[in-house]
Amino acid sequence: MDDQAALDPRQFRRVMGLFATGVTVVAAEADGDVRGMTANAVMSVSLDPLLVCVSIDRRAAINTVVERVGGFSLNILREEQEALSPYFAGLWKHPTPPEHRFQPWVGGPRLVGCLAAAGCRVHAILDGGDHRLFLGRVLALHQGEGPLSPLLFFGGRYHRLREPALAPRDPEEVWIPEDVRIFYGD
Ligand SMILES: Cc1cc2nc3c(=O)[nH]c(=O)nc-3n(C[C@H](O)[C@H](O)[C@H](O)COP(=O)(O)O)c2cc1C
Repeated sequence: MDDQAALDPRQFRRVMGLFATGVTVVAAEADGDVRGMTANAVMSVSLDPLLVCVSIDRRAAINTVVERVGGFSLNILREEQEALSPYFAGLWKHPTPPEHRFQPWVGGPRLVGCLAAAGCRVHAILDGGDHRLFLGRVLALHQGEGPLSPLLFFGGRYHRLREPALAPRDPEEVWIPEDVRIFYGD
């Protein structure tokens, strides 16, 4: 499956879908209404200044909203919040929305009960083909209470951690060189 001629967007999505991620809801408030969109094309970018990035489809309604209001929140979903992912992706088939609530916050509204959240001011908007890359300057961080059980997305399906963590590891500990094992092979 490495034939250049065979490359197409579906194959691209299939291959990149093997990069396991969490699931977030990007949220912004405009004219008193909260807009949200499910996004997993999210990454942390910089520590100084604190920057995150989310890739948003040019056609998505929230694209112009975030640009106009100049801020957004990134809300990381828990496994119990799985229903919110199809809901904020426009894929919800039921007559009533899954239960959820936002509260006013820094940058954008925060999803109550999320695993963690970052409140951001738009720092830059970069061209990303049919998407735009929103760099967010992080103004506020939130970590929810309770077990660390994120909703995961992999291979086009939702997954759960087999062993949810009780507490995150101290980030300072994560990159100590003796801890990094490199495997060479085919
Ligand atoms: C798990 C999952 C992850 C997604 N990630 C992204 C993403 O990172 N960027 C994006 O633009 N759309 C992403 N989408 C699609 C949008 O959520 C969806 O197209 C959304 O409805 C677009 O907003 P609109 O309905 O206002 O057009 C994702 C959908 C799902 C289910």
